[in-house]
Amino acid sequence: MPAAPISLDVALEQVGAEIDRGFDSLLAIPPDARAPLFEAMRYAAIGGGKRLRALLVVAGCNLFHVARERAIRVALAVECVHVYSLIHDDLPSMDDDDLRRGKPTLHRAFDESTAILAGDSLHALAFQVLAEEETHEDPFVRSDLILELARAAGPAGMAGGQMMDLKAAEMRLDLASVTRLQQLKTGALIGWCLEAAAIMGRVPPEGRRSLRGYARDVGLAFQIADDLLDHEGHEEKAGKRVGKDREAGKETFVSLLGPDRARLQAELLVDQAVEHLAGYGAEAGLLRAIARFAVERDH
Ligand code: IPE
Ligand code: IPE
Ligand code: MG
Ligand code: MG
Ligand code: MG
Repeated sequence: MPAAPISLDVALEQVGAEIDRGFDSLLAIPPDARAPLFEAMRYAAIGGGKRLRALLVVAGCNLFHVARERAIRVALAVECVHVYSLIHDDLPSMDDDDLRRGKPTLHRAFDESTAILAGDSLHALAFQVLAEEETHEDPFVRSDLILELARAAGPAGMAGGQMMDLKAAEMRLDLASVTRLQQLKTGALIGWCLEAAAIMGRVPPEGRRSLRGYARDVGLAFQIADDLLDHEGHEEKAGKRVGKDREAGKETFVSLLGPDRARLQAELLVDQAVEHLAGYGAEAGLLRAIARFAVERDH
């Protein structure tokens, strides 16, 4: 008899605990002058965040029967890049935020130079974890994971999207430009989660089309939900300041479409994401639930 499907809440909690344990063992504090750097990395990386990207990796890996310990290493890598991106995103020279995951941002709790170095170190750690043999015995698989993560995090992905986002404060963007910005800023890393699952599962490129379509639609829906949270969410629930996009004069889906049409658009994207999984059965239940959660969340 097949095991009963686990609920999304339980799955998020489980993966969150595994990611916390992974960071805990990777970030043991050394007895020398680097201690504050490790403390800062732990402060940012452990015990916070929805771990949605980690769960996407794990749920994707489940489709291809990838061993759990390996899937968690890949999930740790994406959370390293994600946490690094949040640390730098919050810096005074970027969004200048003082609240993240319900506590002071890293540069507030420590200082700016420590926050920059903690971000740098988490960025590097992602690639180290992927390159280690425990992630996969085949070096081609490991180098493929690394290549795709470099693409997703760099100027053709997240960092490029962040540049466009900074410029968005000075420009009037149309819907097509905002869509491209969001696809790079948020979508590329979310896309990597599913691509990495396919790489770990040795799925040939032609078999990855539906997962790529799913990731594209979920990524965009997720960012629309982030913009909606900024527009009408609550600081205590979101764990970060809200109303910042309007304050900075940034065009988002919400400013261009209005909240109602933006929400409708996000819901349509979720339906479309789920349709991409039509070729899968019950084994994709978690991916379907994640797609819905991406827009129904309040944090
Ligand atoms: C926030 O990401 C930044 C975006 C890319 C929209 P999350 O909403 O996933 O942040 P955490 O990890 O749960 O804190
Ligand atoms: C941040 O986008 C995206 C990345 C860190 C790549 P936002 O600036 O909208 O994220 P929040 O709203 O501060 O979490
Ligand atoms: Mg930002
Ligand atoms: Mg921000
Ligand atoms: Mg935001």
